[in-house]
Amino acid sequence: MKKTVIVTGGAGFIGSNFVFHMLAKYPEYRIICLDKLTYAGNLSTLKSVMDNPNFRFVKDDICDREAVYKLFEEEKPDIVVNFAAESHVDRSIENPGVFLETNIMGTATLMDACRKYGIERYHQVSTDEVYGDLPLDRPDLFFTEETPIHTSSPYSSSKASADLLVQAYNRTYGLPVTISRCSNNYGPYHFPEKLIPLMIANALADKPLPVYGEGLNVRDWLYVEDHCKAIDLIIHKGRVGEVYNIGGHNEKTNIYIVKKILELLGKPENLITYVADRKGHDLRYAIDPTKIHNELGWLPETKFDDGIVKTVNWYLENQEWWKNIISGEYQDYYEKMYGDR
Ligand code: NAD
Ligand code: TYD
Repeated sequence: MKKTVIVTGGAGFIGSNFVFHMLAKYPEYRIICLDKLTYAGNLSTLKSVMDNPNFRFVKDDICDREAVYKLFEEEKPDIVVNFAAESHVDRSIENPGVFLETNIMGTATLMDACRKYGIERYHQVSTDEVYGDLPLDRPDLFFTEETPIHTSSPYSSSKASADLLVQAYNRTYGLPVTISRCSNNYGPYHFPEKLIPLMIANALADKPLPVYGEGLNVRDWLYVEDHCKAIDLIIHKGRVGEVYNIGGHNEKTNIYIVKKILELLGKPENLITYVADRKGHDLRYAIDPTKIHNELGWLPETKFDDGIVKTVNWYLENQEWWKNIISGEYQDYYEKMYGDR
């Protein structure tokens, strides 16, 4: 059946991968990408689909009520998947305001449009970071959907606030919502400020690899396509009002990841430089994906050892994409964040 899906933040990392997944899997769907093209959004990422007649790109801000309502009026979407967000913890520590604006107010604006025009499903792409962190010495503990919200950074607090609003719109107005909380993603089109692409780019340039603290913090890495497939299942088969955790039991310390990248690139470990720790640095994230597995049959398909090779190869083969990004204003950001850390 034909459906119209608005994908916000579709010019970013996960959103663009989701756009590709949806256009390939549902040739009868119309996919509209609504993206403000902030520093993290990149139109060149979407160039392979720009001429697809089932795809439309709209440059606008999810906080701009008039623009959002106009788009809903024109497109009458069946489904809205909200990826648009400020997504980098370090930036949220420097400048929380824009996180509150986009991540909370933008979510409210989108949901108001959904109420006004009527939709089949509003899906909020959230994060495991809303649960705070787990101790390093309790490998038996995992985040379930019942784990209390307990945030650490302005980023995670803004995402948690949005989740609470989404649940409120469901209970108060009956808006048909779902929420997914995924662990750290990796793969193609990951913005080079984040751990994995940053370490690949620096290693290729023989620049120091800045590891925060002792590099012992643990993240639960999922290949981005597996995340996209999980969201596809949730928007079509997930139960309204429910939260689904997404993660593939793939916990690694940061230092393991960094050493793995150096090994794959044939670069020396003396590039590793330990730098001042992140403020409020979460120790460990680890998802229990039992619910999405039992209810929707989802399981991750890409093993980390394969996914990291695919990712490193993608960055090797697509140097123009990330070199363009790191050549511009990103340099000022890098200097500010890492200059005298
Ligand atoms: P990203 O920073 O790569 O992309 C964000 C996109 O949103 C960009 O294209 C940007 O231009 C757009 N955007 C930002 N503000 C906007 C606004 N006001 N209006 C319209 N568009 C706007 O982020 P990502 O890593 O792809 O993350 C996407 C979503 O997934 C986020 O909601 C994030 O919280 C969530 N998430 C990310 C991860 C991860 O590991 N990256 C894990 C779990 C959840
Ligand atoms: P990041 O990719 O920013 O994702 P998140 O903070 O959302 O988990 O960071 C992943 C981990 O890598 C986190 O523990 C912080 C660490 N890190 C570094 O050690 N050095 C860096 O330069 C960056 C960007 C992150």
